[in-house]
Amino acid sequence: MAEAHPDRRRLSGPSERAAVAGERVRLDGISKHFFEIMANDSVDLVLADGEIHALLGENGAGKSTVCSILAGLYHPDSGTIRVDGELKRFASPADALAAGIGMVYQHFRLVDELSVAENIVLGHPDVPARVSRRRLAETCRQVAQRFGMELDPLAAVGELAVGQQQRVEIARLLHRGVGVLILDEPTSVLTPQESDALFANLRKLAAAGHSIVIVTHKLNEVLAVADRVTVMRAGRVVSTRPAEGATAASLSREMVGRDVERPAGRRAREPDRVVLQVEGLTVPGASKSVAAVEDVSFSVRAGEILGVCGVSGNGQRELAEALTGMRQPSAGSIRLGGKDITARSVAHRCDHGMAYIPEDRLAVGIAAGLPVEDNLMLRSYRDPALRRGPFLNYARARDVARNLIREFDVRGVRAGVPASALSGGNVQRAILAREIHRRPSLLVAASPTRGLDVRAALAVRQAMADGRESGLAVLLISEDLDEAISVSDRLIVMFEGRVVGAFSAAEASVERLGELMAGVGIEAEAA
Ligand SMILES: Nc1ncnc2c1ncn2[C@@H]1O[C@H](COP(=O)(O)OP(=O)(O)OP(=O)(O)O)[C@@H](O)[C@H]1O
Ligand SMILES: [Mg+2]
Repeated sequence: MAEAHPDRRRLSGPSERAAVAGERVRLDGISKHFFEIMANDSVDLVLADGEIHALLGENGAGKSTVCSILAGLYHPDSGTIRVDGELKRFASPADALAAGIGMVYQHFRLVDELSVAENIVLGHPDVPARVSRRRLAETCRQVAQRFGMELDPLAAVGELAVGQQQRVEIARLLHRGVGVLILDEPTSVLTPQESDALFANLRKLAAAGHSIVIVTHKLNEVLAVADRVTVMRAGRVVSTRPAEGATAASLSREMVGRDVERPAGRRAREPDRVVLQVEGLTVPGASKSVAAVEDVSFSVRAGEILGVCGVSGNGQRELAEALTGMRQPSAGSIRLGGKDITARSVAHRCDHGMAYIPEDRLAVGIAAGLPVEDNLMLRSYRDPALRRGPFLNYARARDVARNLIREFDVRGVRAGVPASALSGGNVQRAILAREIHRRPSLLVAASPTRGLDVRAALAVRQAMADGRESGLAVLLISEDLDEAISVSDRLIVMFEGRVVGAFSAAEASVERLGELMAGVGIEAEAA
């Protein structure tokens, strides 16, 4: 049940125009179903003027759906949207934008080749057909200044760090006069420092009267930045309350409906033989002149989790792609179980015990257009136990897939529904299920808990820990320092393609790792 906001007052009738004091947006009884799933079940939500309102809930709870409805992307089956007291019907995101509501999607809608200024200003209804670069840059500077953001108008967007791109996206919406800003998991792609900068910007915007909706799975962020919190479960609103007084434990209890167990403690088992040995690995980057990974060496043993920390874009992706055979290194060697696999195919590595959870799940991890069952069966073609001669034993493979869906609690699966329709977290569970059940000797996991709710993230960490107990070697690439430190046995830090530090879990501190990730004090370290 929703708690009343102090400013919340009932409208006397739908035709009433006068804005209710302090109430910017009001959703009443919003419902939306996809097939037989009630993604939103009579959702009531009020956004006050100048508040930051966090939306919490497990994967598939309906957060993105309600945001998309408010942003005009989806049409509700029933229910009403009022903006400043006025009843609205959005036929498209353009309508919502016209009503002052804009959404920052997880995958930004910027044009990489254009400059920051062009991205912010172009598409605005008032831009003349011809406009000088000077004027563009000046407008951009004004926008940035007005909202207290740091932006370089002339930089090409494609070359900016993710956090800066996000800032451009926000500035673009603000330039359109948006008063309600919706951010769907904005920090899942940011470093801790970038998140802090984002929050500082959001606080300024809220202080200037903007209303902000932020979806996140990170409870400490909610407590740090939000004024109020709404928790959703299975399409419904469970509660709306001030963030003050809430705790991480109370919020996760509400999301899940019961207490969330703590992860199992660190293992007792000693690491065993070396499973992965990387020596002098150099991997070319997108622009051939600079290497994305440069002269990197490390090893991972059976029964050990090696955490690779770093700000995204420092070579982790290219490292993972080289290890899994998707990208060819220009120098160095990769040995798996003692055998040189540097020049081997993806399929060969997969057959010889390597499993991979990619960073870009929808693009690389799964066939988004295929149903989940089929996705889970994809790898079965390589499993002798599920083959009859050259053919797949379809019935057995399907049983295996169905068991995995149950065991890993993948939700939203229905016959004929493509995997792309699953909520983000459920896609991740499906990939994890497929990769881990093959009993690999090495798991390369790139940001495996990104976008997962508290319980699902715990389940993934537990699965990695369980794997380690049974002798799995895990390479965990993570931008979440707390996670990397709590899960790993050893850690290495990557900066600009190089390994700039190596620690045992016991000697690692968030401060030192954070400094190295930012490139502070590297000379001393490397010397
Ligand atoms: N386009 C779609 N087609 C079919 N089902 C959908 C579609 N979009 C969402 N769903 C389903 O609706 C439910 C709610 O999904 P939604 O994306 O709103 O969840 P969420 O709370 O944002 O989850 P997450 O934290 O994983 O992002 C899920 O069961 C999802 O599978
Ligand atoms: Mg979502």
